[in-house]
Amino acid sequence: MARAFPQDYINHIFQGDCLNLMKEIPDEAVSLILTDPPYGIRYQNQFSVSPHPILEGDAGIDYKQFAKESYRILAMHSHAYFFTRFDCYPYHFECLKAAGFSIKNCLVIEKGNLGGIGDLKGSFSNNAEWIIFCQKGRRPFNATTLLENRKKEGTLFQKERIPSKKYKTRFPACWFGPEYPKSTYNATWQRKHQIYHPTIKNVDCLSWLIQISSNPGDVVFDGFSGTASTAVAALTTGRRFLGAEISLDYWQIGQKRLNQYKEDE
Ligand SMILES: C[S@@+](CC[C@H](N)C(=O)[O-])C[C@H]1O[C@@H](n2cnc3c(N)ncnc32)[C@H](O)[C@@H]1O
Repeated sequence: MARAFPQDYINHIFQGDCLNLMKEIPDEAVSLILTDPPYGIRYQNQFSVSPHPILEGDAGIDYKQFAKESYRILAMHSHAYFFTRFDCYPYHFECLKAAGFSIKNCLVIEKGNLGGIGDLKGSFSNNAEWIIFCQKGRRPFNATTLLENRKKEGTLFQKERIPSKKYKTRFPACWFGPEYPKSTYNATWQRKHQIYHPTIKNVDCLSWLIQISSNPGDVVFDGFSGTASTAVAALTTGRRFLGAEISLDYWQIGQKRLNQYKEDE
């Protein structure tokens, strides 16, 4: 059970450094961490007419401290998801483990766009996002209606086994194909919605993770909010949010997006 929270922290994205905000958050105050930290790679897309600016803070954060603070602010028996990349994975894994998390899986979720940086002619293009899935204590997954079983409800696979349910109760760690939401939006989506960010995540994908791992009314924390995708996903699923974003420009895009969401409600 999460600890009481000052009301002015609820449904708020602070413009500033995530680690400064985290220092002010009481122990065990948030029910889910779903976050997409900078990887320290100074990524800048080259595919569009006007390349995105290099992300502020993308030279890296103090990940060890971030992992420690994440463990401290998360309620016992709760889940945490940290986006990562194949080359940062070993370090992120070690930091999260040292902080006390039990690391359960690495989710691999198909991107909505083909990623490519560095040696475009001599390396495979990244078509998936990696997410480190952690638990503090142990929390079973929620029963959801996100994925229907292929077999008809009530099918008995073997004698004396429970008949199959309408919806899947177990999810695979790889989300590929039409049944699953993509992890990112592509350039066409960004142009259509006029929301630009080099590493924007897909709200449907975030909302699936939120539904699997938290309850309505819970507080979802994203310390690297970017364009507020996690906050929008939290609201669409009846949760609350708290976050930080260091870049004034992206913070403003996030505020505009949240205001638009409230107007459309
Ligand atoms: C990988 S992006 C997140 C994108 C986001 N998931 C979205 O859908 O828009 C990481 C974000 O963290 C921000 N950032 C970098 N260092 C930060 C820090 N120390 N505190 C807060 N935000 C930071 C960057 O400006 C960037 O927008």
